[in-house]
Amino acid sequence: VSERIAFLGSGVMAEAMIRGLLAEGGADAGDLWASGPREERARQLHETYGVRAVTDNLEAVANADLVVLSVKPPSLPGLLAQIRPALRPEQPVVSIVAGARLSMLAAALGHPAIVRCIPNLPCRVGRGLTAWTAAQEVSEEACASVRRLLGALGEEIRVADDHELDRATAVYGTAPALVALFAKALEDAAVFAGEPRSRARGLLLRSLVGTAEMMLASDEHPAELVDTVTSPEGVMSRARHVLDSGGFSALLTDAVDAALRRTVELGDRLEERGKL
Ligand SMILES: NC(=O)c1ccc[n+]([C@@H]2O[C@H](COP(=O)([O-])OP(=O)(O)OC[C@H]3O[C@@H](n4cnc5c(N)ncnc54)[C@H](OP(=O)(O)O)[C@@H]3O)[C@@H](O)[C@H]2O)c1
Repeated sequence: VSERIAFLGSGVMAEAMIRGLLAEGGADAGDLWASGPREERARQLHETYGVRAVTDNLEAVANADLVVLSVKPPSLPGLLAQIRPALRPEQPVVSIVAGARLSMLAAALGHPAIVRCIPNLPCRVGRGLTAWTAAQEVSEEACASVRRLLGALGEEIRVADDHELDRATAVYGTAPALVALFAKALEDAAVFAGEPRSRARGLLLRSLVGTAEMMLASDEHPAELVDTVTSPEGVMSRARHVLDSGGFSALLTDAVDAALRRTVELGDRLEERGKL
């Protein structure tokens, strides 16, 4: 990554991306700008990562080749109005704001080069997955810059439109937290069964990673894997029955469905605010 990048909104996700870019992407701290309202947060980011952290969004915009919008949805309309006059036509704008659609962003910024993406948290360690979509008007050169930025954080995948990006938000954006919830529940179950927590945590996480790597390395469907280890009257058979009768699979489906509906709702709300 050779561009100068400005993160407008320097919270959890901006920090995860900054950390990933510095550790895994080979970015130079002097090329990364982060802006946010709080002086002490700026100081902390500068001291931890050496990035140029400021409290003035416009200073960050003026010094960047590429601008990332990383505020929460309610802060977005004000931020868009503030930076609109300061953007240069060739400056790609990448939004990571859940729900915010390309057409709304383009209209609010009066700017053609808009990309919408949804990174996920493992980008902190260069193992993220970022789905992104770009308006037709975005140049190949701008798309290439975005690919370099997101590729430095892990895998990037371009999807067709806002509709697919909403779905990616609900599925891949939430996946790390859902997996973390699962890991936490499994750890509690281990403790309930008598395992010391200190031992269970690391071993279960290694089991998660090992299982994921094994499945990635083979063409075996997850259902086949489960069947392989479920024998008649066996140990796994009993455990599986409990999960099935508790509606484990249906519950996850409902959770992702709720996340998708909330993503669309956030987008609708931002569009309504744009019309006011
Ligand atoms: N968390 C995830 O897994 C995830 C994944 C993908 C995308 N996203 C999206 O990423 C965005 C950021 O999420 P987050 O979890 O990083 O939130 P966050 O930690 O709250 O970060 C947002 C930051 O923006 C700052 N801010 C507020 N108003 C601002 C303004 N006008 N100009 C500049 N900065 C401003 C906030 O400062 P204060 O703290 O001082 O208010 C805060 O530091 C959200 O839109 C979310 O939908 C999140």
